[in-house]
Amino acid sequence: VGRLGDQTVSTGGAAGALPTTDEAMVGRADELVSVWDALQYHHVVSIIGVGGMGKTRLATEAAAGVVHRFADGVWWCDLAAANSPDAVAQVVLAALVAWQSPGRSGVESIVDSLAGRDALVVLDNCEHVLPTARDLVRVVRSSCRDVRFLSTSREALGVGGEYLIVVSSLPDHEAFELFLVRAVVARLICRSATISAPWPVGSARVWMASRWRLSWLRPDAGR
Ligand SMILES: Nc1ncnc2c1ncn2[C@@H]1O[C@H](COP(=O)(O)OP(=O)(O)OP(=O)(O)O)[C@@H](O)[C@H]1O
Ligand SMILES: [Mg+2]
Repeated sequence: VGRLGDQTVSTGGAAGALPTTDEAMVGRADELVSVWDALQYHHVVSIIGVGGMGKTRLATEAAAGVVHRFADGVWWCDLAAANSPDAVAQVVLAALVAWQSPGRSGVESIVDSLAGRDALVVLDNCEHVLPTARDLVRVVRSSCRDVRFLSTSREALGVGGEYLIVVSSLPDHEAFELFLVRAVVARLICRSATISAPWPVGSARVWMASRWRLSWLRPDAGR
């Protein structure tokens, strides 16, 4: 749920809502604390790393943990499918549950919507629209001093004052844990599809498997 002006907006399941998942996050405790700390002291924080490293997953968890810090909400903008400056502006406007005003550009309308707000805007998957995302952040930052940005990208945005958090591979035992959880879930999905159990039973088993942290695999388990 976010709030813009007098308007309280339920973003559950809609544009702007944080992505949800039933799967527990494996590891990344240090990175999570780093993002939370950085968001306290920096207006632009970027999670960077090579593809598939878990940047979006980390940003999701990080954003969920700071919702209470922003009086006007946390707004999630998935830029993966935005392939032009106009498309980027439209994704952000949709996330903010705002509209482009007549005679105003998309970016100007975003500024109008965020002016005076205490909000966090998450720009997820920026790599293919870096110059546009960079300009957007610069323009909004120059007009809306209480708006913060969290971005995920394979490279830095390149704006002044940007704080970078580099995500690298999980340590071996956590990568193995993630692999095993995925394998167990995949196997249970296949088995659920072939047995004639009612669907809630199959779904519950998949959910339980995804929550299963396989802690016995950790090198320090049982100590
Ligand atoms: N620490 C983790 N715990 C559980 N699942 C994870 C973790 N890291 C990544 N994943 C899962 O791995 C997949 C890829 O992660 P994610 O999409 O976050 O990567 P990414 O770095 O954002 O990739 P891209 O650069 O393509 O945007 C997703 O399904 C995500 O949920
Ligand atoms: Mg991503």
